[in-house]
Amino acid sequence: MKRFKIPDFIRKRRVTLPFRKIKGIISENYNSKVLTEIWGDYIDWGKRRKGENGWLVNQLKKYNCHKVFESSFGDGCDAIFLQKEGFDVTANEIDKVFLKKGLQNTQREGVELKVTKLDWRELDKEIEKESFDAVLSLGNSLTYLFIQSDQITVLKQFRSILRPGGILIIDERNYQYILDNRKEILKGNFYYSGKYVYCGEKVHGRPIEITDEYVKFQYTEEATGKKGYLILYPFRRDEMQKLLTKAGFSKIEQYSDYQPGYNPEADFFMYVCQK
Ligand SMILES: C[S@@+](CC[C@H](N)C(=O)[O-])C[C@H]1O[C@@H](n2cnc3c(N)ncnc32)[C@H](O)[C@@H]1O
Repeated sequence: MKRFKIPDFIRKRRVTLPFRKIKGIISENYNSKVLTEIWGDYIDWGKRRKGENGWLVNQLKKYNCHKVFESSFGDGCDAIFLQKEGFDVTANEIDKVFLKKGLQNTQREGVELKVTKLDWRELDKEIEKESFDAVLSLGNSLTYLFIQSDQITVLKQFRSILRPGGILIIDERNYQYILDNRKEILKGNFYYSGKYVYCGEKVHGRPIEITDEYVKFQYTEEATGKKGYLILYPFRRDEMQKLLTKAGFSKIEQYSDYQPGYNPEADFFMYVCQK
């Protein structure tokens, strides 16, 4: 029988759930090969750009950013776009399968990027302090980490590689909506506009387990029935702001689906945090 090897970066998450339970869930379901194959159709690169409507570039220009550290490269959607827009992008990805896909897409798009393969918790191993104008943590990425001290460590690492006045742009899904409406959502009534961040029609994501400790998302490619899974940490309302403050950010602007302020009905929240 083929043995499933849990990738290091997941094993190292040291989740707070009983280890056997989370290990069981992840080893049964985690398959970055499937996720990688369907991720581009889950995002829909063109629709992501339409949804943010220039917001990302405008934020970077507003704070005079040129050197950008894209902490969660994924399949390359944002890093490739920004490099094409004239920014100097370093793309970081820890998952080898995603990295390979992102680099294939980079080549296909005729772009060159600098690449790092670091765990967010250990950026200072290779990256100098104050060496970037902007750090991106987009597409609901920090939610991969379950332990608060890890989350704060990562935000501190992001802050430390920013020059004074530079910005961290980070986003999160509206988990409070998911936690508050778990019964309805698990019956199949998951409301999601599909206009922001993850916008594809060919692949749909929805929560299939919702607990106070974790949310399990299932991603289905509609044409083939192919499925990928992620186990994610559900941030409560205001939790991200508190983490950002604890990590040392004092000037934080919140956006809801790219509009300034807090809207409880948004699909995603974005934060622009200045050092
Ligand atoms: C939800 S995906 C988002 C990818 C991309 N930014 C997007 O918008 O589609 C999060 C990414 O973070 C990476 N990741 C997860 N934990 C990490 C860690 N501890 N250090 C570095 N990268 C990590 C994963 O490999 C994955 O590619």
